[in-house]
Amino acid sequence: MTFDLETIRAQFPSLSIIDGESPRIYFDNPGGTQVSQMVVDRMSDCLIQSNANIQGYFRTSQMVDGIIEGAHEAMADLLNAQSGDEIVFGQNMTTLTLHISRSIGRCFKPGDEIILSCMDHDANVAPWLLLARDLGLEVRWMPFNTETFEFDLDKLDALLTDRTKLVCVAGASNLTGTINDIKAISARAHDAGAWTYIDAVQSVPHVSTDVQDLGCDFLVCSAYKFFGPHQGMLWGRRELLEMLEPYKVRPASEKIPACFETGTQNHEGMAGTTAAVDYFAWIGESMAARYQEQNSHFEGRRKYVHAAMDCLFAYERDIAAHLINGLQQLPGVRIQGITAADAMDRRVPTVSFTVDGVASDSIARALAAQNIFVWSGHYYAIEVAKSLGIYDSGAVRIGPVHYNSVAEIDQLLNALDSILRRANVA
Ligand SMILES: Cc1ncc(COP(=O)(O)O)c(C=O)c1O
Repeated sequence: MTFDLETIRAQFPSLSIIDGESPRIYFDNPGGTQVSQMVVDRMSDCLIQSNANIQGYFRTSQMVDGIIEGAHEAMADLLNAQSGDEIVFGQNMTTLTLHISRSIGRCFKPGDEIILSCMDHDANVAPWLLLARDLGLEVRWMPFNTETFEFDLDKLDALLTDRTKLVCVAGASNLTGTINDIKAISARAHDAGAWTYIDAVQSVPHVSTDVQDLGCDFLVCSAYKFFGPHQGMLWGRRELLEMLEPYKVRPASEKIPACFETGTQNHEGMAGTTAAVDYFAWIGESMAARYQEQNSHFEGRRKYVHAAMDCLFAYERDIAAHLINGLQQLPGVRIQGITAADAMDRRVPTVSFTVDGVASDSIARALAAQNIFVWSGHYYAIEVAKSLGIYDSGAVRIGPVHYNSVAEIDQLLNALDSILRRANVA
C-alpha cells in the first residue's frame, strides 16, 4: 500500500469530531498536533497497568522501568542517536533548554561568545540571553535574508571567532517554515571550535532527523508536535552529556541520562511518545515501501521510522505547494516564507501570511467561526517577527500536516477568499 490518507485519518479519533454541523479542521498543528488512538491507549495502559515509581522489586515498578527504557530507545530510533542513554526526557523543550543551559554555561567564561539566530522561537533565545547575562557572555546575532527567508551562511562565517562557544539555531522556523541547513551550520561551528544547540521542535514532525549525519551537539524536540503527548526530549552527544555537570539532587543517579532527568518523570508521557514513534514505524512498514530502500542503512524500527518520515515529507511538500499556490491567488495575501515551487524541499508546510490592512487575529477569529483552527500573532518567534517588521501586526499561520487533506485546504482557501472580500481587500 502507498500513502493512504483515509487509513491515516482513521487512526486519529479527534479528526472525526463534528461540532454541531461543522467538522473540525486542524491547521493549528505547529502549535500542537492531534494524537492517534495508539498513543491514547498506551498512555492509558501505562496509568492502569503500571502506575508505580521506578526501580522497585514488584511488577508494576518493573513494568514502568521497561516503559522508560523503551521510550529512550524509541527516541534514539527517531533521531538516529547511537543509543537510548543519549536521550534526556523532560517537561518540554523550553524547560529542558533552561535546565541544561546551566550545565553548558559551566564550560564558558566571561567574554566568551555565543551566536543566536534571528530565525528562532524564543525558547532557543531567551535561555541563552539569561545565561549570557549571568556569565557575561557576548551575544552575536545571525540574521536571515528577509527576501529569501533563509540564512546566508557567509554571515555565520563572519560571526564565528575563536571565542565562539555555542551556536543556537532552529531545525525549521515556526513562522516562515524554512528548513535550515543544520549540517552546514554545525560543520562551520565545529571548525571554529563551537558547539551547536538545535531546536528541532518544528523540524522533527516533518523531516527525517539523523543527529549523527547532522553532526550537531544537542538537539531538542517535543512529542506533542509530532502526534504524541506533552513531553520534551533532548539528545546530546554522549561525550558532552558525560562531561557536563548536571544540576540535580544528591540521591539521583550520576549516570546519563538519568542525571539530567530531574525528579519523577512523566511515565505516561513516555509511553505515549513511544507510541508516536511506533505510529511512524507503522506508516513506514505499511505505506512507505518505496522509501525503505533509501533507508536501508538503518535497521529494524529505525528503517521504518525514517522511511515514514520521507514518505510523509513528500506528501506534505505537495499539500504545501497546493496551499501556497491557493494563497497566492487571494487578494492582498503576502506569504512570509519560501514560495518557489522548486524550493518546497527547503520548507516545512507551515505557511504564515499577512494581509495589508487586515488584522491577523481578525482572520483567525473569522476562520475559527467556521471551525477552521489556525494561529495568529508572532507565536513566540519574536526575532523572526521583528526581522520581518510584523511583530506588532502579526501573521496568520496555516500549519497542515500529513493527516490534512487537499479538500481541507480548499475549504480554508474558500473561507479565506470570502473573509478577505468582506474585508474589502482589493
Ligand atoms: C520552534 C519552537 N521551539 C520551541 C517551542 C517550545 O516548545 P515547548 O512547548 O516544548 O517548550 C515551540 C513551540 O511552539 C516551537 O515552535
